Formats: sequence, structure tokens, C-alpha cells
Amino acid sequence: MNCSVVYTDSTMYDDVRRALLYQGNVLVYRACEASVSFIAHARTMIEEAFAGVDPERAQFTMPVEEFISILAPLKPRFTHHPQTTIIVRDLLEQMGCDLDLTYQDLPRLRAVTSDGYLTSGVGYAHHAHRDTWYSAPMTQINWWIPIYPIESANSIAFHPRYWSSPVKNNSYDFNYYEWDAVGRADAAKHVTSDTRKQPKPQEPLQLEPQTRIVPEAGGMILFSAAQLHSTVPNTSGKTRFSLDFRTTHLLDLDQRAGAPNIDSFCTGTSLRDFLRASDLSAMPQRIVEMYDSGRRGLSETLVYRLAVEEHDLRERQFGAI
Ligand SMILES: [Fe+2]
Repeated sequence: MNCSVVYTDSTMYDDVRRALLYQGNVLVYRACEASVSFIAHARTMIEEAFAGVDPERAQFTMPVEEFISILAPLKPRFTHHPQTTIIVRDLLEQMGCDLDLTYQDLPRLRAVTSDGYLTSGVGYAHHAHRDTWYSAPMTQINWWIPIYPIESANSIAFHPRYWSSPVKNNSYDFNYYEWDAVGRADAAKHVTSDTRKQPKPQEPLQLEPQTRIVPEAGGMILFSAAQLHSTVPNTSGKTRFSLDFRTTHLLDLDQRAGAPNIDSFCTGTSLRDFLRASDLSAMPQRIVEMYDSGRRGLSETLVYRLAVEEHDLRERQFGAI
């Protein structure tokens, strides 16, 4: 079947759900008790940080440097707050995940301001990308939740036409360990432009028509890390606050299941960031090693780089191909 399906409030088992996600389908859920607790927790932290100023409109009342000085410490404070991890576990349980086999990473708080107020660093508006270009495993599932009500003009966009079509990109230049050491720590320094080395498309993309999904606050969008997606340029007049985290299933990793890899050639793996949901124990070393030196190794990187160079050379010789 060559189409993407958006399933809403599906009651299927997690095994079936993961299989559908690995085929490029997207699942949307209405808010549940745990996700409502999650956004309430996030709102409390956000509103405390903005100290009486409406967070969605704070960008219109302060210079961007002040906005960054609030947001930059808030993001890691949210990620590492003890309550944050507990709520993710509750949410996964409520959503029917096996907590002994499901591994979660640390949730992230995102803020995308309106009208280009802040588009880099801590407010980075993501260009079209697959998370798998950033060394995510092909089994990764993204969970995306708006904290306040959103609309089409400040939502997330999917580009399902690229589910099975490779995009020429420079993920071969991306190494997860380098990014982890340098890229994230530097995010707050990027006020007006973002020079962090990120994997990006290296060809014009047809991003429209695109699919935008607008769940209620606390509603959830689940999608594969291999799904091409982007931040909608925010023209809503409000800063969009969302949270997201990722999961991966141990048996799928062990069996090398997951979405097909059609164009990700980065090195390193983000698997060490995932902890078992039941007890927060580390990802088994054997599994990490399977992916650390596996098919994303140097030789395939070189093969891809050569293919890109050959493509460019032919383009110069024969025109557009
Ligand atoms: Fe992403």
C-alpha cells in the first residue's frame, strides 16, 4: 500500500502500532489523564519562569536576549526535573507500552516564536528533516505534544511524499558524539542565526502540499523518526510551546526491525540516551554495539559520499538529471 494513514484514538496493541509507524503511518491521540498531567507540569514550569508574563505573548514585551535568558535555563530544567521522567513513564503505561521493553529518552521542551522573533538556538525552527539523519535508530518513535492550544499556523508539518523517496542530504557529515558534545551546549549562543552543523536536504524539496496535524493541548502525535517533518513557520501571533520525547522497543532493536533506511548516513548512535521505562536502567551494551558499528559505519558513509559526488559531476556534465 503506497499511502500514509493518520489513525486517531486507535485502541490497537503497541506491537501493531509500532508496525504501522514503521510503515510511515501517523497516529494521533486525544489528551489522556497522564498527558494532561504532563502539560500541567510543563505549564507550571513555563509560567514560573516567565514570572507573570503570558508566555505565549512574552515575545512582544521583551527583547529577544531577555527571552533567551528565560528559555535557555528553562529547557534543561524541564528535561531533568524528576517529575518529568515519572510522568513519561505514566504516559507510556497508559498508552499500552510494555515498560520493561520500552526505552525512553529525556523529554524536551520546545518554543517556536511567532513572526521570526527567534528562529535559532533555543528557539530553533526545524527545517525539513528526518530524525534518523541525527543518528536516531530506525526503530525510534517520536511523541509530540502541544502544551497550549495550537492552530495550523504554529503546528508541525509532515511531508509523506518523502517516506519512500530518498532526499539528497548531508547526514554523512553528522556524527552524534560531536553534536552531543558541541551542538546542544552551544544552542543558547545562537541568537540571530544558527551555524551548528546540522544535517539538511541538499536539493530543493517539494514541501507542499504538506500534512499538518493539530491536536488539542495534551493531545499526542506519534510518528516514526524516519518521517520527514518540519516546523511550520509560526505566523499565529503566539509562541508555540510543545514537548516531545522518543521511545524505542528493545525487541525491535534486537531484530533490526523499524522503518526502512533510505537516505540516513550519519555516524554514531543516540541509543545511549534511552533508558528503560520501568526502572531507568541503561540500554544494554550489546544492543548499543549493534548500532554503533553497524550499517551506518564509515564504509557506507564513503559509498554515499561518492554517490553524491558522482551525481553532482553528472549534473555538471549533462545538466539536471
Ligand atoms: Fe525532528
